[in-house]
Amino acid sequence: MKATAKAHTNIALIKYWGKRNDRLILPTNSSLSVTLDRFYTVTTVDFDKERTEDVFYLNGELAPEKETKKVSTYLNKVREFAGVELFASVFSENHVPTAAGFASSASGYAALSAASTKAIGLNLTPRELSQFARIGSGSACRSIYGGYVEWQMGEKNDGSDSYAVPLLDGKEFPIAVLSVMVNASEKKVLSREGMKRTVETSPFYQGWLESAEKELVEMKHALTLRDFTRLGTIAEKNALKMHATTLGADPPFLYWQSGTLQVMDAVENLRSKGLEAYFTIDAGPNVKVLCQPSDVEKITAQLKEVPSVQHIYPCQPGPGVTYLDGVHIADVNNRGDLDG
Ligand code: ADP
Ligand code: DP6
Repeated sequence: MKATAKAHTNIALIKYWGKRNDRLILPTNSSLSVTLDRFYTVTTVDFDKERTEDVFYLNGELAPEKETKKVSTYLNKVREFAGVELFASVFSENHVPTAAGFASSASGYAALSAASTKAIGLNLTPRELSQFARIGSGSACRSIYGGYVEWQMGEKNDGSDSYAVPLLDGKEFPIAVLSVMVNASEKKVLSREGMKRTVETSPFYQGWLESAEKELVEMKHALTLRDFTRLGTIAEKNALKMHATTLGADPPFLYWQSGTLQVMDAVENLRSKGLEAYFTIDAGPNVKVLCQPSDVEKITAQLKEVPSVQHIYPCQPGPGVTYLDGVHIADVNNRGDLDG
């Protein structure tokens, strides 16, 4: 009982930052992202009656016990739902830095959910799969689809109305996302811990909730109009507000480093010179610069001059989950993109 799935990371333009239910991973606000072509995870899950426990290999190495435990806890939910009691071997390759703010948890859990549910014999709709991915890592539910995706927070306590919905094919609104690496090491405060601390202790959190809701509506409007200026402006404001909440947490923390600020500064400089660019930052020091595809070369050249910049990965909107055998389960809106 074996299956292999490939899932891409996504970058949130309106961030998910906070849970109302930790166990089911139900968010306090809806979020919106674009799936990226460049970064992805490929995961194979093999349920085997000979196994006496789960094993998890990440990037060719046996994962630390803590990580194996996380994967095993996730597989327990899949086993429980399927009514199957077999243990599994899980082999995962991250074609993205792990735990450095490049959303490895999103591609990781989207690939794990797709491979494990298929291997165990569940035949899920993309919506159901997005709910399965969500209980592994919230942002993973958006990676089931390609292009622009909304995670609708839902209201119900059982999570049955909290899932991702594809909004727009990436080809219908092509943008470029330059992933600018200033530090690839693993962050000290994982997203899970960081958002929990913020929800519980930051006096700025209420302000975040109010503005995130408004900004989501504005962002969807920008997508409808294919208005890049609006998209970038709102994404940048939303990222700044998310990071502001962490400064009010107790103990306070900040994902930015001096290199992060250098890139933010450079983006502002580009704008003042008439080159349209905006930044967004997830839970880590690295920066994603949003620009028009026609400006990629010019903007990359300028950002390379920033002393803290180690590497720039140009990305575009990418596809949703695919299986290695070529059966495409999602992306009703992204058929042309599915093999990317
Ligand atoms: P990131 O910015 O990379 O998403 P997070 O702190 O949100 O960082 O999540 C990183 C965590 O996601 C890792 O510590 C690990 O538990 C999990 N993860 C990353 N890659 C995989 C994978 N391929 N399979 C399963 N879990 C993964
Ligand atoms: C800042 O989805 O990694 O990237 O649900 O606890 O696994 P868990 O968190 P995760 O958090 C992502 C936070 C973010 C914003 C976003 O992607 O929306």
